[in-house]
Amino acid sequence: MKLIKAADYNEMSRIAADYVIAKLHENPQIKLGMATGDTPKGLYRELVSDHRKNGTSYKGVQTFNLDEYIGLSSRDSQSYRYYMDSHLFDHIDIDKTNTHLPKGDVEDAFAEAEAYEQLIRDSGKVDLQILGLGGNGHIGFNEPGTPFGSTAHVVELTVATRSANAKFFGSLDLVPRRAITMGIATIMESKEILMLVSGEGKSSALCRLLEGPVEEGFPASVLRRHPHAMVIADDAALSLC
Ligand code: GLP
Repeated sequence: MKLIKAADYNEMSRIAADYVIAKLHENPQIKLGMATGDTPKGLYRELVSDHRKNGTSYKGVQTFNLDEYIGLSSRDSQSYRYYMDSHLFDHIDIDKTNTHLPKGDVEDAFAEAEAYEQLIRDSGKVDLQILGLGGNGHIGFNEPGTPFGSTAHVVELTVATRSANAKFFGSLDLVPRRAITMGIATIMESKEILMLVSGEGKSSALCRLLEGPVEEGFPASVLRRHPHAMVIADDAALSLC
């Protein structure tokens, strides 16, 4: 696993954007795995700004998001579909029918998880998967203890993860209790992984990722087994290691 150090959040976001744009120029039909949360917002902002300035086109790009809350429709401002549209897709020339997330408002979430896994498999491998890091080591919504062999599935979110995401909902009670997420095996199938880590709040998780054992108790540690995984972390996130 390669580590790239950035001075701060903005530099981390710019390095990540330059990398994604370079990959996109190499392969205009690239399949990108997308993440949500606060961390990738700067990356998406940079991609939008580059699209406006330099006209980088996303017409041939397909995207697959990591996860979605169960019970929220795409029109709900807390859904990850809404997040992706408002932070990225609405501002670039991507064909929205090529942007995929699990559907959160279906009757049978288990069937939707299976269908999502199948969709990713049928589309071939994700070329570059963007990831954030949960404070407890989760990736996507794969909580500690999730088997490394897991495919897309329904998860009961831990209180820790719901609390971390309460900042977006205003209160813990409003955070959905379940989500559909790509599994760890789904994520590991991607050809390349780019994880972004920023801020002191992630410093102990980042140390554990860089220095701790590879174990299901800390899902992100699996990245150390990936042949092409790269972490871009800022000074604050690296402050403990
Ligand atoms: C959520 C998302 C993850 C994300 C994590 C970290 O739980 N499902 O994909 O990586 O939060 O979020 P943040 O970047 O806001 O710290």
